[in-house]
Amino acid sequence: MSSTGERDYDKYLNDLGRRRKPALLRTLDDKYAVAPPDTMKMAGGYCSPNIFPFKNISVELKDGTSFSIEGDDLTEAVQYQPTGGFPPLRKQLKEIIDHFNKPPYDAETIIVSGHQDGICKVFEMMLERGRPLFLADPSYASGIDMMRPYVPDYRPIAEDADGIIPELLHKELEKVRIASGGDYNKMGNLLYLVPHGSNPAGTSIPEERLKKIYKLACDYDLIILEDDPYFFHYYTEERPVSFLTMDTDQRVIRVAGLTKLMTPGFRIAMATGPKPLIQKIEYHMQITVGHVSSISQMIVHKMLNAWGMQGFIKQVEIVRSYYRSVCEIAVNAAKKHLTGLVKFHVPKAGMFIWMEVVGVDDVTELVMTRAAARGVMVVPGSAFMAPRPGGPPANCIRVSFGTIDPNKIDKAFKILAEVIREEVKHQKTFKNSKTNGIAA
Ligand SMILES: Cc1ncc(COP(=O)(O)O)c(C=O)c1O
Repeated sequence: MSSTGERDYDKYLNDLGRRRKPALLRTLDDKYAVAPPDTMKMAGGYCSPNIFPFKNISVELKDGTSFSIEGDDLTEAVQYQPTGGFPPLRKQLKEIIDHFNKPPYDAETIIVSGHQDGICKVFEMMLERGRPLFLADPSYASGIDMMRPYVPDYRPIAEDADGIIPELLHKELEKVRIASGGDYNKMGNLLYLVPHGSNPAGTSIPEERLKKIYKLACDYDLIILEDDPYFFHYYTEERPVSFLTMDTDQRVIRVAGLTKLMTPGFRIAMATGPKPLIQKIEYHMQITVGHVSSISQMIVHKMLNAWGMQGFIKQVEIVRSYYRSVCEIAVNAAKKHLTGLVKFHVPKAGMFIWMEVVGVDDVTELVMTRAAARGVMVVPGSAFMAPRPGGPPANCIRVSFGTIDPNKIDKAFKILAEVIREEVKHQKTFKNSKTNGIAA
């Protein structure tokens, strides 16, 4: 099942994905981008630079770097760009991928409009009503929201402190294989994971486990969608590895970008993987977003130019050390105030702590009313659980320490502890009144 080379990637796609073709007009943009200056460009609906109202855009960074965007660069920064990305930036981002996550084959990379855009388009081309879809339990809430309209047959795989448990994945794959009667269209085609600093579980999959999961993907012919916004948020000294790096079988689509590393608002992420699959994402972008904002791309291009790889690595270190220290504050505060009230794993990366609340079956009221009324906002864990018969468990919460002022974390967890105690008391009273036959 695991042959490389001229694989027919259409087998992994649904009808929509198979039917998606290049849009001629947007394909011409690629030619425009490399056409000699004297080309008589009368093909695209490009605007004349004469009508652009901008003269100069100046950028100053906190580290003292500064640059201005003017002349031809300014025209590029406000003009249409090829769908796959502003070519000089695409080249720079490919260099970054090759530096940290070099795939063992000549993979394709395009710039997508944030991770959301990349993963949503993969779901759109692969998911089918009733077809098994493997995912971590819990998984990224917006990912589940993206999957919902396709009504897949969710196969959530439980996690421990190191992410999904390969033995459970294997068991589920085998169950599906037997039920499919050997028909690949009834077997799962996709495994969706956030392998590092998972949102919401805060888990990171160690290399040995990644390899086991990758082998299962090869054995059962799955595409892995590696949603990796927190790759650079690791707190350990050893840099993690990605599925992409081990993808000798060319079956990983990795979406990883700059949103969590420098600026979410620029909407810059990269989708990397086998060309036939990445092209389908690009065709979809051609007729939806067109391309990621040109000005975002130009600013990042200029910034990376000024920084070089060393400057990029410096930013990675700033991000790592910031979140590592906030995580430490959050974990200490959780131990101080929430011991005995919640169970949690200490994250090794990312910006989330997943807490199982002890003695509360349903945290919705606790989170949405009690905690919110006292100024603490967290998310009920059910938002991150795939739909299932009887509904998902509702006894977990996700805490993010990404934005909060670290000085407020202690107070926030103190309040959280108080509202959990109140909720436990309330639920006990409610249960007692029901057993005693008193209307609650
Ligand atoms: C796992 C995961 N995937 C995707 C996203 C969306 O990222 P972006 O802002 O790049 O679209 C997030 C953001 O919170 C995330 O945690």
